[in-house]
Amino acid sequence: MAFCDFLICPLCAAPLVREGASLFCTGARKHCYDIASSGYVNLLPPGKGKNARTGDDAGMIAARTAFLTGGYYDVISDAVAEIAATNIPKREGRIALLDAGSGEGYHTCRIARGIASATGRHIDALGVDASKKGAAAGAKLAARTAADGADISFAAGNIFSLPVKDHSLDVMLSLFAPIPAAEAMRTLKDDGILVVTASAARHLWEMRCLLYDEVREGNAEAATPEGFVLKEKREVRALVHIPDNGTLMHLFTMTPFYYRTPESGRARLASTESLDVSVMADLYVFTKRKDF
Ligand SMILES: C[S@@+](CC[C@H](N)C(=O)[O-])C[C@H]1O[C@@H](n2cnc3c(N)ncnc32)[C@H](O)[C@@H]1O
Repeated sequence: MAFCDFLICPLCAAPLVREGASLFCTGARKHCYDIASSGYVNLLPPGKGKNARTGDDAGMIAARTAFLTGGYYDVISDAVAEIAATNIPKREGRIALLDAGSGEGYHTCRIARGIASATGRHIDALGVDASKKGAAAGAKLAARTAADGADISFAAGNIFSLPVKDHSLDVMLSLFAPIPAAEAMRTLKDDGILVVTASAARHLWEMRCLLYDEVREGNAEAATPEGFVLKEKREVRALVHIPDNGTLMHLFTMTPFYYRTPESGRARLASTESLDVSVMADLYVFTKRKDF
């Protein structure tokens, strides 16, 4: 597994280089980060272990893996790859991409490969998530599905304090995750793009109607992060057939509704055999404001 050359030491910010099964920093202290057998590297700063607890737990990661590998959300990652590929600054050479809050890496891998094939350029992609289990799952998936044109690696890390060089990224992705605006500003090149994917107001509407007696629409518009300007917005709207209750439960488990659904709603979901659900996401491409 290759590790991209935009990584820096989370302790002293010196560049990281790979030697065997470890990444060493080129600073005076030569800090060392071992690559786990699953292929990910833990770059959560020592002593800041509480970061790890912000990551999704094993149950959520497993549910998301089971659901996403069924292809039910591919319509989203296909659209993200397409909008990113058309907005990436046009130049020769490799594309540097970071997926901030990459979960178990399914979208990271699909989007990175989609961009590589659409642009014909090699891509170095890194998924960063606070969850070590998520990063491990991503690394295993990237190894299983390795293909020419894309080097995809995963690190456990804090997206609000990224172990990444200043002005080194062409693309930062944020899918259904907190948006690290200040870190995007620091790590993106001047003409780099921040691609945000957020749930639209009626995302998963039919499932929400089962879960709650009274359903309210979610937030309609993502705020433009400070220092950025909106370049393009695209809507993904699809009706997706969920064929069985097991898959429906996986979808439920990977959403925030899992934590705030009354017993009556859970019971209705448990007795539902199949469901057509609206998959509705809004994609935003932001670029840096020239005057910021
Ligand atoms: C809803 S999940 C989305 C995962 C993935 N992007 C997807 O669309 O399938 C949000 C992810 O953000 C991660 N996350 C939240 N806060 C984080 C932080 N401070 N640093 C790194 N990851 C974080 C969580 O661990 C979780 O995997």
